[in-house]
Amino acid sequence: MSDVEPTTEPWETSERLGRVEPSATLAIGNAAAALEADGVDVVDLSVGEPDFPTPQNVVEAGKDALDAGHTGYTSSNGVPELKRAIAEKLRGDGIDASPEEVIVTPGGKQALYETVQTLVDPGDEVVVLDPAWVSYEAMVKLAGGELTRVDTAPSFQLEPALDDLRETVTADTDLLFVNTPSNPTGAVYTDAALEAVRDIAVEHDVAVVADEIYGRITYGDVEQTSLASLDGLAERTVTINGFSKAYSMTGWRLGYLHADEAFVGEAGKLHSHSVSCATNFVQRAGIEALRETDDTVREMVDAFETRRDLVVDTLADAGVDVSVPDGAFYAMLPVDDDDQTWAEAAIEEAHVATVPGNAFGAPGYARISYAASEDDFGRRSTGCLSTTSCSARGSFSSGRDEHGRVSKTTTGDSDEEARIVTTEGVLGGAPRIADRRIGVLTIYELVEGRGLDPTTVADRFDPPVASVYRALAYYYENPREMESVRRARAAAVEGVRERIARRNRPEGVAGGAVGD
Ligand SMILES: Cc1ncc(COP(=O)(O)O)c(C=O)c1O
Repeated sequence: MSDVEPTTEPWETSERLGRVEPSATLAIGNAAAALEADGVDVVDLSVGEPDFPTPQNVVEAGKDALDAGHTGYTSSNGVPELKRAIAEKLRGDGIDASPEEVIVTPGGKQALYETVQTLVDPGDEVVVLDPAWVSYEAMVKLAGGELTRVDTAPSFQLEPALDDLRETVTADTDLLFVNTPSNPTGAVYTDAALEAVRDIAVEHDVAVVADEIYGRITYGDVEQTSLASLDGLAERTVTINGFSKAYSMTGWRLGYLHADEAFVGEAGKLHSHSVSCATNFVQRAGIEALRETDDTVREMVDAFETRRDLVVDTLADAGVDVSVPDGAFYAMLPVDDDDQTWAEAAIEEAHVATVPGNAFGAPGYARISYAASEDDFGRRSTGCLSTTSCSARGSFSSGRDEHGRVSKTTTGDSDEEARIVTTEGVLGGAPRIADRRIGVLTIYELVEGRGLDPTTVADRFDPPVASVYRALAYYYENPREMESVRRARAAAVEGVRERIARRNRPEGVAGGAVGD
């Protein structure tokens, strides 16, 4: 044994990682997992992932590629046939693309990461349109860039924000992100708005990142225009795309970037020194996806459109106006100013998981994703969603009836109600407040962990205030039992997280990040 004292903080982690936070969606994911572990049926509207299986012909192409031995490295920027198919697809979108101008990446996220690392130096100014997808900010901060935000709320369209954009983008701006159709708003920007963006970018000599990963998912007559197809933007735009959303291939990890050869030469250095190349047989499956899935993609988009209509109608019936999304599979629900607390209450009380708007730079909103299965969505979430929306811009103040629907309950402070009980099969047999599905551990965490006072907990989560005090007393009186409840719950949460991650995926395929 050495005499050296073990340190409690063994890693001196980089200053750059200190600039970014873990995903804000994690808290909601954890709360959803904890409830599911307790046997509660959670309606998950938080996940940005289509629930459809990958089209069968694409799966077969992947298997055939494996059988044919396509398991080695490929050339770093991608297999020539896939780069040709990508260039063809981009030419179909009006972009004058050649295969040499493409880098195939493990997911669109990696294409974005490489783009930011290629273009952004410490202190560089990057402009994003809020609400913006969560990872832009983290990527820019990791590169040392400074973010400036232009707000598009409440319409989420670009026209009303153009004056702000004109004022914000100056000769000091280095990069502008445009994501259309947008995550999290579902907005598809008009050609007129994109032309105005072009004029601003050209005037101030700014590079543009066009994140078009939802480009094939638009509804009705609405179509998305590729920024790089506009005169003046081709030479200053990096187009980002991927296979996750349109082809339901999230776990395959396949995406790409397109820009001129000068950019690709520089970004290619980073690409080859980091990932070497995207997975060989996955790239072969990507060729099939681009060339042979038009009908399947149309069916999936039709299904998303049906769900979009269901969401919008349900909310309209409940008197909540949302900006109708024309693309992607998200909508922004106006909620309480404190959207974080609102989303936590929505999950705790109505058992509906959403992502708080602050994660996207849009406090006062919650993002709902309608990528969930139609059956699941239609059958279970409609009631919850309208209940949720009824409480939009207000806080939850109701309990659930025997059908799982939210209903008002009369509360009183009698000793009878302040009892703590355990019942096999309810909350995993953990101690809870009599006649309520709220556990002693949850009460303790709300009061001691989140700093809510017992009256607020009683108001917001329904149990009588006397029961809240009784639960706290029970917690302190039974430390051993509570420790084992905590451990059992942590294990169950882990199990549920695994299950959520595996849902809709073939056996043995690991899951992705919740909330993208
Ligand atoms: C706007 C946007 N861009 C890029 C990505 C990256 O997707 P992937 O890395 O799965 O291709 C996502 C994923 O959610 C997204 O929403």
